[in-house]
Amino acid sequence: MEIIDLKTLKIEANKEIDNTADLKSLDDIDKKYLGKKGELTRILRSLQILPKEKRANMGKAANEVKNVLKQKIEIKRKEIGKDVIIADKERIDATRPGKAPIQGHLHILTQTRREVEEIFRSMGFEVAEGPEVENEWYNFDALNIPKNHPARDVWDTFWLKSAKERLLLRTHTSPVQIHYMETHKPPLRIIVPGNVFRHEATDQRHEFQLFQVEGLMVDKDISVPNFKAIVGEFFRRFFNKNMGFRLRPDFFPFTEPSFDIGMTCLICEGKGCQLCKGSGFLEVAGAGMVHPNVFKASGVDPKKWKGWAFGFGLDRLAMMKYKINDVRLFRSGDMRFLNQF
Ligand code: DAH
Repeated sequence: MEIIDLKTLKIEANKEIDNTADLKSLDDIDKKYLGKKGELTRILRSLQILPKEKRANMGKAANEVKNVLKQKIEIKRKEIGKDVIIADKERIDATRPGKAPIQGHLHILTQTRREVEEIFRSMGFEVAEGPEVENEWYNFDALNIPKNHPARDVWDTFWLKSAKERLLLRTHTSPVQIHYMETHKPPLRIIVPGNVFRHEATDQRHEFQLFQVEGLMVDKDISVPNFKAIVGEFFRRFFNKNMGFRLRPDFFPFTEPSFDIGMTCLICEGKGCQLCKGSGFLEVAGAGMVHPNVFKASGVDPKKWKGWAFGFGLDRLAMMKYKINDVRLFRSGDMRFLNQF
């Protein structure tokens, strides 16, 4: 046995280890060189027959090769092992039940808006929209609320900085009555759903942003009984039952006479609770017969045409229908609330 042989053996073994990719053949290499009958073991055993001087040198060299190979095999074993674990992790089992993607759904106010639109459409109303940023004319003057009139205080809002004219976030959907009548000739029936904004201290019933549905019907012989019939039918369909409601005299500059629409508070079924301030009724809309000045401002002849209008708080309708006792929940972004609907 020569050192040369040992060198060749080392080179061969190294090559084989490098080229292995699985544990089984690595075990075979281990056995082939380092096993009981392995090539290196045989060399080590055969040392006894060598003369003493040679034996020491050869022994040292052979042991070195043995250790190097052993180490290398161990390292390789770990490497292959790691790959096996990773491969295991990355394996795709197409038969496993999948993870369902989280699906969004329509916000409860959007659902309510669509329900309301559907009911009015079926009664011959068209759905109209208008801008959320208004000027003073549309939000106030055209609605018979002149500058410095105290009624403007009721609709305090957010003013926008603009060079040309005073712009504001609309405080109600009523300006769309004007926009619509400017461009459409009576007879007409519209509802106008949309966001409105108020400078408002928030509480259980009030928000600085709310959703209104304006209604406007203009024809030759329009009267309060027409109005009551339509609102009664709307309530019946929206709440799926005959709903009692009451009209009380109120004041709005753009209607004469004016009233507010109160309905039995469905949170407490009329018994009185914190939301309805113990009255058993909740105001859900303002309404009235269109004021002649509003017709004039929109280019409609008040001698020829009559009309009624209302402005429902959609938030409040949804609160009643779904028994939600705090208006602030709608825009809270709290998924625990939103996922209930
Ligand atoms: N715009 C009123 C508000 O926001 C509500 C209202 C009252 C609308 C009477 C109307 C109406 O159309 O006729 O408080």
